[in-house]
Amino acid sequence: MNTPHAASRCPRPSHVDVKPRRMRFGLDSLKRHWHSNDAFRSHFFNGLSTLFPQGERFFIDSVRGVQHEITDPVLLAEIKGFIAQEAVHGHEHDKYNNLLREQGYDIDKLDRHLGFWTRLGQKLMTRKQQLATTCAVEHFTAIMANALMRYPQDWLGDAPDAMKAIWRWHAIEETEHKAVCFDAYEAVGGGYFTRILMMIQTTIHFSYVTTRHVCHFLAKDGVLFKASTWKSGFQFLWGKPGLIRQIFRDYLDYYRPSFHPWQHDNSTLIDEWKAQHEEKYSVRPAA
Ligand SMILES: [Fe+2]
Ligand SMILES: [Fe+2]
Repeated sequence: MNTPHAASRCPRPSHVDVKPRRMRFGLDSLKRHWHSNDAFRSHFFNGLSTLFPQGERFFIDSVRGVQHEITDPVLLAEIKGFIAQEAVHGHEHDKYNNLLREQGYDIDKLDRHLGFWTRLGQKLMTRKQQLATTCAVEHFTAIMANALMRYPQDWLGDAPDAMKAIWRWHAIEETEHKAVCFDAYEAVGGGYFTRILMMIQTTIHFSYVTTRHVCHFLAKDGVLFKASTWKSGFQFLWGKPGLIRQIFRDYLDYYRPSFHPWQHDNSTLIDEWKAQHEEKYSVRPAA
């Protein structure tokens, strides 16, 4: 029987809520290379989008798997908010992915392949290992979200407004709930060794499936083996400033034994987004 515990050893800032939003982005059509007319940049984001619906279901299942062991009402309320946010993310990315399906990309094949790995993980890993895997992916999404919000021009450049809006909204909610699974993991006695082991396997697996999905899109467009595609990709990911350079230090912080996601307090980015963008895309319930 678990004893009551504090919600977090590093609580989220008090002005940050973990609650889902109803949004409408007006994403009704999509140009094939919607990001700066560049195949790699467009398909990098498309590749991530095709990971989300199933990935987010895995996250939800993993936290539900330990929920009965948690007694802290604050943490239980955060878990409820987390599950609701991730469910909406999956739904919005399904709509985005349907536009890709209409363009002739084989999204079902990508889903089947990802489903195989997800089911295998659920079969082979203990509940705690599954939750540690979710913590690891949540760290990836949190540090990518942070960089996307801090350096919007580098990440989304001249992308259409609807695409900027959907990626920013997802980034904000990933920031709001970035510590929920981590706190749940610690609350059920999850330790450092498993957390790090699962981060190493997640880093390998996340890189593999993202690359596979991006390559699928590039191959369908007939640009997989073009030097210009990979020149652009290298510049986008590894050049200066380069997305990977922007997240690498934050990624390494996860390996510190005392790490907690809210040690990176970037909650002012949430306030800025709320002030500038939230109203425009919010769906207000009918009065
Ligand atoms: Fe999400
Ligand atoms: Fe998330």
